Amino acid sequence: MMSEKRGRALVTGASSGIGLEIAKVLASQNYDLIICARRKKELDDLSIKITNRYKVNCRVIVADLTTEEGVDLLVNNSEDVDILVNNAGFGILGDHFEMQLGRQLEMIELNIHALTRLSHEFGNLMVKKGKGRIMNVASIASYISGPSFAVYCATKAYVLSYSRALHKELKNKGVTVTALCPGYVTTGFQEVAGMELSKMEKLTSVPAKRVAEIAVKSMHKGKREVMPGIVNKPLPLVTKITPMWLQLIIVRWVLK
Ligand SMILES: NC(=O)c1ccc[n+]([C@@H]2O[C@H](COP(=O)([O-])OP(=O)(O)OC[C@H]3O[C@@H](n4cnc5c(N)ncnc54)[C@H](OP(=O)(O)O)[C@@H]3O)[C@@H](O)[C@H]2O)c1
Repeated sequence: MMSEKRGRALVTGASSGIGLEIAKVLASQNYDLIICARRKKELDDLSIKITNRYKVNCRVIVADLTTEEGVDLLVNNSEDVDILVNNAGFGILGDHFEMQLGRQLEMIELNIHALTRLSHEFGNLMVKKGKGRIMNVASIASYISGPSFAVYCATKAYVLSYSRALHKELKNKGVTVTALCPGYVTTGFQEVAGMELSKMEKLTSVPAKRVAEIAVKSMHKGKREVMPGIVNKPLPLVTKITPMWLQLIIVRWVLK
C-alpha cells in the first residue's frame, strides 16, 4: 500500500550535485517534487528515476534563474509548496579584476537575487498557511572573505545572514528557515568554478548524498543552520578568533 503524500517540495539546481541528492531524499520521504535548473535532459532523467522509484509526482521546470524571466517562469508555474530548497548557485575562482564582470554579476543574480525572490514569494504563502520549511544553501565560504573568490564568498555571506534573520522573523509563524553551510563537496561545482581540489581538500570533502541527508534532517528539525562534516565545524570559531589580516593571507594561500 502506498503511504500518504507529505506535501510538495521545490528544489532549485536539482540537475546535479547537492540539489539532485536533496530531491532524491525528499522523494524518498514521499514529497511530490518540482525540480528546476537549466539542463532539461538531466532534470527529465531525474524525474523519471524519482517517479519510478518513489511513486511521487516530479515536475520539471527548465529556467535560467540568473534572469528575471527565469524566476518569473518558475514562480508562475509552481503551485504553493511546503518545502522550498534554494540550492542553485555557482562560484568562479579568480581575481575579481582579472575576470569578466558579467559572469560575476550573474553569480549575484542567482546566489542572491533569485534566492531572495523565491524565499519571498513562497515564504509569503507559507506564512499565510502557518506552515513551511525553507532551506537556503550557503557555504563555509559564508564565514570568510575570499581573495580570489571575492564575489562568491560575499554572496554566501549574504545567504547565511539573510537566512538567520528570516529564521528569527518567521519562527513563531510556523515557518522555519535553515541555512546549509557545506564545506568541500565533489560535484559539478568545481568544474564550473574552475578549481581543482587538492588531496587534502578531497579528504575533507563530504559526499553530496550525505550532505543532502544531513541537510534535510536538520531542515525538518527546524534548525537555523547546519554544517555537514566534522572538519568544517571549528571554522566559525576560528574566524572569530583569528585576526582578519591573517585570515586573508591564509584564504589567499589556500585558494591560489
Ligand atoms: N560543491 C561544493 O563544494 C559546495 C560547497 C558549499 C556550497 N555549495 C553550494 O551548493 C549549491 C549546489 O552546488 P553543487 O555543489 O551541487 O554544484 P553543481 O553540481 O554545479 O550544481 C549546481 C546546480 O545549480 C544549477 N544552476 C546553475 N546555474 C543556474 C542557473 N543560471 N539557473 C538555474 N539553475 C542553475 C545547476 O543546474 P544547470 O547547470 O542545469 O542550470 C545545478 O543543478 C550551490 O549553491 C553551491 O554554491 C557547494
